[in-house]
Amino acid sequence: MKKLFSLLAILGLTTFPVWAQTEESNWYTMLQAMDSGQLTLLVILGIVLGVIVLLLLLMVYLMSFMSAVLQKENPVTANEPSWWETFKKRFVTGQVDEVGSKEEKAKMMADHSYDGITELDNFMPPWLQWVFIGTVAFAIVYFVNYSVLGNGPTGVEEYEEELRVEAAAAEFRKANLVAGIDESNVVFDESAGALASGKTIFETNCAACHATDGGGGVGPNLTDEYWIHGGSINDVFKIVKYGVVEKGMIPWQDQLSPEQMQQVSSYILTMKGTTPAVPKEPQGELYTPAPAEAVPTDSTSVVASIE
Ligand code: HEC
Repeated sequence: MKKLFSLLAILGLTTFPVWAQTEESNWYTMLQAMDSGQLTLLVILGIVLGVIVLLLLLMVYLMSFMSAVLQKENPVTANEPSWWETFKKRFVTGQVDEVGSKEEKAKMMADHSYDGITELDNFMPPWLQWVFIGTVAFAIVYFVNYSVLGNGPTGVEEYEEELRVEAAAAEFRKANLVAGIDESNVVFDESAGALASGKTIFETNCAACHATDGGGGVGPNLTDEYWIHGGSINDVFKIVKYGVVEKGMIPWQDQLSPEQMQQVSSYILTMKGTTPAVPKEPQGELYTPAPAEAVPTDSTSVVASIE
């Protein structure tokens, strides 16, 4: 009995970390989400369950003990097998014949003799049979439940649900990322959506000083290759964000979100090389982009397609 207990304990301990991995610590996160009331209830339930199991084990132990004593005292039943033996024979091991007995000899398959090695036509142990029957029954129940009745998600539905959750998480990550855009990490966003939104932002906020086509007015021409403060996406973003207050360029960081400033900066870079109606003379220095940061030539066509 002691052996059985320690065996169970060892089994329990060794399988513990295995579940934790295969279940992706779901039970653990569930535990963390519980409040103290629920946790106390869970602990009490666990203790009650443990006591019940202990009592059951004790009962089985006492019963086997008593039946052994009774058998010994009663000469009639002394030779009868105990209930455990009967149970074992029916459900666990089956009838095992003595080696060399008549029954065993009868099962020997003489026609299967190879070099004197014969085969014993043995039964399948009942426990294995039960496991087999169990798997068949489980398969039927499973199939009917999932595929016939349509209860519970199928593999495809589970996959789609995972995709949906992952898409939501990606959206959230992107929102966080977008909020963190600044002059040091901003990149040229050539997606049509971003450029279209940049164009709208430009026309509503910037056209008054830079002209709708970027040709300039109060502010400098944004279509030429000359820049007062540099022509990289980072330079443009920085000017849009902080402005040049003493020269009349407004800081936009309080009115526009980092993403909007990225969009309008990207849109400005696509205006390079276009011919505005009334171009202001070049101001500042000629800016030649490094090859890596050059605005793709087809980005003007992207803008043309959204116009
Ligand atoms: C009130 C007028 C005004 C508005 C509105 C305005 N700007 Fe300007 N902007 C200026 C002036 C003036 C300068 C020149 C600053 C200087 O000389 O240093 C300038 C400079 C710039 C530059 C730098 C150009 C260079 O050659 O380095 C960029 C980029 C720019 N503006 C983008 C924008 C954007 C984008 C908006 C709208 C969100 C905007 N501006 C709105 C007046 C304005």
